[in-house]
Amino acid sequence: MLNQVLDYARTQRDRYLQDLLEYLAIPSVSAQPEHARDVKMAALWLSEHLRDAGLRAEVMATDGHPVVYAEWSGHDHHRPTVLIYGHYDVQPAEPFELWQSHPFQPGIRDGYIYARGADDNKGQHLAHVKAVASYLRCEGTLPVNVKFLIEGEEEIGSPNLGKFIAAHHDLLSCDCVMISDGALFTLTQPALTYGLRGLAGFEVQVRCLDRDVHSGHYGGNVQNPAFALAHILASLKDAHGRVTVPGFYDDVRPLSEEERRAIARVPYGEADVMRETGALQAFGDPAFTVNERKGARPTLEVNGMWSGYTGPGSKTIIPATAHAKITCRLVPHQQPEKVIRLVEEAMRAATPAGATITFSEERGTPASLVELDAAEVQAAVRAAQATYGNPPFYVLEGGSIPVVHEFQTQLGKPIALLGFGLPDDNIHSPDERFAVACYEKGIEASVRFLAEL
Ligand code: BES
Ligand code: MN
Repeated sequence: MLNQVLDYARTQRDRYLQDLLEYLAIPSVSAQPEHARDVKMAALWLSEHLRDAGLRAEVMATDGHPVVYAEWSGHDHHRPTVLIYGHYDVQPAEPFELWQSHPFQPGIRDGYIYARGADDNKGQHLAHVKAVASYLRCEGTLPVNVKFLIEGEEEIGSPNLGKFIAAHHDLLSCDCVMISDGALFTLTQPALTYGLRGLAGFEVQVRCLDRDVHSGHYGGNVQNPAFALAHILASLKDAHGRVTVPGFYDDVRPLSEEERRAIARVPYGEADVMRETGALQAFGDPAFTVNERKGARPTLEVNGMWSGYTGPGSKTIIPATAHAKITCRLVPHQQPEKVIRLVEEAMRAATPAGATITFSEERGTPASLVELDAAEVQAAVRAAQATYGNPPFYVLEGGSIPVVHEFQTQLGKPIALLGFGLPDDNIHSPDERFAVACYEKGIEASVRFLAEL
């Protein structure tokens, strides 16, 4: 039965690929209000495809972008139920000029599908949809009950999903959750994630003047907010990149020697960081390795900053204000609210005379660790081994998937985090891509997971 389903999926590869290309052409950028209609279009597109696959599907309202929910109408109470989560929203594609092809005119080059959202996350969750579609077309039934929850706000921190889950507890009841929103090491080396970092973010405004003024008329006599902000930001880290905010590391989970040894076995290091990013060197707290810093240490980063005139030519002003967007990656046991408070206090304390500092847009999501020995997670391990030829490495992921914490606190069921992408798929970057082979292997892994379950 398993092989028949896999064979059937192979006969459908061209159609499945065309479907993904069509899905990727919808610019469902959740962060940008001008794309609100496209976000809705993507939800409708997906719900139709889930219906085509043989599921009952609906687009459900939230206080933000809608959620797509689907379930198999043959639901059998004697079988386990898996809830498959993904997100149909994508990151902004800017800067467009750095893309080799248009981010929303997907094309295939050298075995890769290039488009915003190809890896993160349309290609990955559509692989699960196609696995279920193959099963139902081929066998007329599924080996387990399947529900899909595909949201439209993951890339903006899932601000409304916690409330949605709370309001639809029965609808979402399940025995385990499957999430594919990460990467393999290579097509022959899968990875199972057992930890994700959290996130705590805010925006900062520094103001020194009522309005932009002539830099000759007033230069030398007033504080410049861009300098004030630079001074404040520079005070938050030492030369090695260690965060100097008092209390910042207080709640960080210490690594046991055993875990450090396990992490050291993962073949990823400074050379990989340099090759993947073009960085001149790896940079970070010298007391920890690359893998430790990625998964088990918190960070403080500036994601954007602006002040004054940035158009062509020159404009001789002293700007009135300076701004930055700041986020910290968190590790287990750190509380987002506390980290935000500590960093804001340190910034307030470092604010020079002549400048006022204010904060806004505070938001956060805690880190999570998932149980690896749950039977359902081990089903994913066997599916990965059979699909990719090797047992998965167990890894701590540096990114965040806010819903994981919500699922843990509200559903309390095991979560399998099995990514289908590759590390150099350029997620959140220009030329995001997803290998055709990753899509097809993802479908295979999903079919095998359902069978193993
Ligand atoms: N797919 C990523 C999370 C991820 C990144 C997993 C790298 C594995 C490797 C997800 O779509 C994402 O980007 N999440 C955001 C969440 C944030 C907006 C709260 C992130 O990590 O920045
Ligand atoms: Mn993302």
